[in-house]
Amino acid sequence: MQSKEHWEKVYETKAPDAVSWFQPHAQVSLDLIKATGAGLDAGIIDVGGGASTLVDDLLAEGYTDLTVLDLSAAALHAARQRLGERERQVRWIAADITTVELPEARYDIWHDRAVFHFLAEPQDREAYVRTVFRSVKPGGYVIVSTFAEDGPAQCSGLPVMRYSADELHDEFGESFTLLQHRKETHHTPAGAVQQFVYCYCRRASS
Ligand SMILES: C[S@@+](CC[C@H](N)C(=O)[O-])C[C@H]1O[C@@H](n2cnc3c(N)ncnc32)[C@H](O)[C@@H]1O
Repeated sequence: MQSKEHWEKVYETKAPDAVSWFQPHAQVSLDLIKATGAGLDAGIIDVGGGASTLVDDLLAEGYTDLTVLDLSAAALHAARQRLGERERQVRWIAADITTVELPEARYDIWHDRAVFHFLAEPQDREAYVRTVFRSVKPGGYVIVSTFAEDGPAQCSGLPVMRYSADELHDEFGESFTLLQHRKETHHTPAGAVQQFVYCYCRRASS
């Protein structure tokens, strides 16, 4: 719960566009989601979505089955406020991804930017991957982004794990094929530069 308190405080005290991970548009994520070729009715979950603008852009693209999950209710509140009426088109789940029970074979696309890298304990990463297995449909897509090997050692004042594309893919195992990986240079609102890596994987269809 220490972690929940941390994140609630962050979103209660900082404007959504002032946090270091803010992006006016999550362009790499959007490009990879579109690259799946999934229809506009695809089930998409943004895990640890916080107050990210990704959901705004997915709604604008016409996607109709969107879920945003985050540990922080304050983060989800900020996103819902920003969306206004459109917030009703999205499912919002305030939960810890290492303990939540998501529906089985529910999602076509799992997206996570800058959440997996906080999971320092192997048992938390294993719990996360078990949830991916449970809730992503066979043949579904998993897009996970963390700090890269040459990224910062901390995010939001918390220590993080850094990954190469192969190391990140290894966390998910052979049932996930690495279709593509990308590096991204992120410029924080305060002017710092951070290297991210994105893994774009497909779950085996059986
Ligand atoms: C660095 S922010 C990234 C937010 C968003 N993905 C983005 O790119 O703008 C990390 C987010 O993960 C959430 N988070 C941290 N640990 C979590 C957990 N165990 N379960 C769910 N969300 C978590 C935080 O509340 C925060 O919103």
